[in-house]
Amino acid sequence: MASSSSSSSSVLFMIFAIVLAVVSASNFNQDFTITWGDGRAKILNNSQLLTLSLDKASGSGFQSNNEYLFGKIDMQLKLVSGNSAGTVTAYYLSSQGSTHDEIDFEFLGNLSGEPYVLHTNVFSQGKGNREQQFYLWFDPIADFHTYSILWNPQRIIFSVDGTPIREFKNAESMGVPYPKNQPMRIYSSLWNADDWATRGGLVKTDWTKAPFTASYRNFNANACIWSSGSSSCSSSSSSSSKNNAWLSEQLDSTNQGRLKWVQKNYMIYNYCCTDFSKEISTRISSTNVAWSRIFKRKLIYHY
Ligand SMILES: *[C@@H]1O[C@H](CO)[C@@H](O)[C@H](O)[C@H]1NC(C)=O
Ligand SMILES: *[C@@H]1O[C@H](CO)[C@@H](O)[C@H](O)[C@H]1NC(C)=O
Repeated sequence: MASSSSSSSSVLFMIFAIVLAVVSASNFNQDFTITWGDGRAKILNNSQLLTLSLDKASGSGFQSNNEYLFGKIDMQLKLVSGNSAGTVTAYYLSSQGSTHDEIDFEFLGNLSGEPYVLHTNVFSQGKGNREQQFYLWFDPIADFHTYSILWNPQRIIFSVDGTPIREFKNAESMGVPYPKNQPMRIYSSLWNADDWATRGGLVKTDWTKAPFTASYRNFNANACIWSSGSSSCSSSSSSSSKNNAWLSEQLDSTNQGRLKWVQKNYMIYNYCCTDFSKEISTRISSTNVAWSRIFKRKLIYHY
C-alpha cells in the first residue's frame, strides 16, 4: 500500500517535472540546434547563453528543435555592439515551403552611437510586404532586452520588454490570409547585408571590427508544440489548459495606449501608410527589404 502510493506520487512528480520543463525551458542545448556558421555560434554558461558571430568569411545561425503552432515566445537579445553597420540580426518564426508563414524581427545595425532599426514583417501563405520599422527607446547593445511574439488564432503581437509595438489581427473575414495552419520553428541568424541594411546600403561593414557578436538568453516558450501531426495543446490535461490564457490574449486598454505611444513616437515605416516626412522610409522599404527576404530564404533552405 505504502510502496504503491509512493511510486504513484513519484510518477506524478515526474509528470509534473516534465510539464515544468516544457514551460520554463531556457536550456539552449535542449531547445535549439546550431545550424550553420562553422563554430561561430556557441552555447555557453551551462546552456544558459547562446552567441552568434559574424566575420568576413561567414555569419552563423540556429533554429529551434520544436515546431510550434501558436505560442507566446520570449527571448532576450543583446545586439552587436560598437560599429554594427551592415550587420543584420534576424530572429523569427517560419514554416517551410513557397507558401510559408513567417513572423519576423530583424535588427539592422548602425555606426557607433547611431540607432538600430527594428524591422518587423508578417508573411501568410508566402505573401509578405507587411513591413513596419521602428527605432527603439533604449540602447539595445548596452544590455539584454526581451523581444516577444504572441501568436494566437486571433492576432500576432510583437512586444519589446513587455511593451507592444505591433499588432497584426486576423482579418480572414476580409479575405486576408492569416498564419494558422502551418507549424513554425524559431530561427535566428547574424549575417552581413551591407548592400541594403544601413541607411539603405550607404554605410558598409567595417571588417576591421569583426568578429561581430549577438547574444541570447532566457528563452521562454509558452506554446503549442506540434509533433507528428498533433498539438500539445489539444491534449485534455488540465495543467496545459490552465497555462493557455495566451491563446485568447488581447491588448487591454493600457496596452493599446502603449502600442499607440510606440507607433506615434518610434515607428519610422509602415507598409500600410508610409509617412514620407521620415527620411528613412523610402530608402529602406521596397527594393531593399525584398533583398533581405531573398537572402534569408537562401539561408533557411541551404542550412
Ligand atoms: C555567463 O557566466 C558568467 C560566469 O558565471 C557570468 O559572469 C556572466 O554574466 C554570464 N553571462 C551571461 C550573459 O549571462
Ligand atoms: C542609422 O543612422 C542613421 C543616421 O542617424 C539613420 O538615418 C538610420 O535610420 C539608422 N539606422 C539604419 C539601420 O540605417
